[in-house]
Amino acid sequence: MAAVDRFHLLYREISRSCSVYLETLALVGAWYAVRKCTSLAMDTYSMLRLHLIPKLGSKVDLVKQYGKWAVITGSTDGIGKAYAEELAKRGVNIILISRNKEKLEALSKTISETYEVETLFIVADFSKGREPYPAIKEALKDREIGILVNNVGIFYSYPDYFTNLSEDILWDMINVNITSANMMTRIVLPGMVEKKRGAIVNVSSASCCQPTPMLTAYGASK
Ligand SMILES: NC(=O)c1ccc[n+]([C@@H]2O[C@H](COP(=O)([O-])OP(=O)(O)OC[C@H]3O[C@@H](n4cnc5c(N)ncnc54)[C@H](OP(=O)(O)O)[C@@H]3O)[C@@H](O)[C@H]2O)c1
Repeated sequence: MAAVDRFHLLYREISRSCSVYLETLALVGAWYAVRKCTSLAMDTYSMLRLHLIPKLGSKVDLVKQYGKWAVITGSTDGIGKAYAEELAKRGVNIILISRNKEKLEALSKTISETYEVETLFIVADFSKGREPYPAIKEALKDREIGILVNNVGIFYSYPDYFTNLSEDILWDMINVNITSANMMTRIVLPGMVEKKRGAIVNVSSASCCQPTPMLTAYGASK
């Protein structure tokens, strides 16, 4: 019994001396909870603003607001293809750019038939440095480009240390992910500025905003 009494005494003493630490920890916990709740509330607001509120109101007439044509780079697959279809659905004429002529031809035909808009395609390989841009500039000349979607992007075959990346992969990533966005903007922006309307969408990645070990060059390029 004496042992139990001593234990209670010891426990009381420890609790008393710990209370200042517990209070500090409680404050840290409260600060963390407030931060998390604030960020959750802000994310929820952004989600509603971006995805729900636009669906409630009447749709913006993209042709009237920005112009007749949209150019989408890397547009025969994935996100680029989805952009092309969604913009065509909203009545915008579409210019597709990527490497494979057969895929471009097929998608171009499907989009024009499905959405009854004009389509055009340009075969170009953005990994070739300066090479593709004069032909793209010539093909876009005299068209009213209202929207540019800088979508084309390449990723590693698998995550790896920077020191293991070949020079070819690095150049391709820089040319496809960075140079294309800059050069395409350089081609279409003067027309937009002149008409005082236009929109440029740069497709980025979550890798740009957080540490991405083994995806260093990709993260930096986005
Ligand atoms: N998928 C994801 O989970 C994800 C996540 C975050 C961000 N992103 C970003 O979203 C964008 C699109 O990604 P995605 O996954 O939708 O791409 P994807 O499915 O791999 O499609 C890539 C498109 O780009 C074209 N392309 C590839 N290399 C090209 C080159 N050198 N020159 C011209 N065209 C080329 C391809 O067509 P051809 O092969 O016929 O040329 C294809 O149409 C990228 O910028 C990517 O970084 C993607």
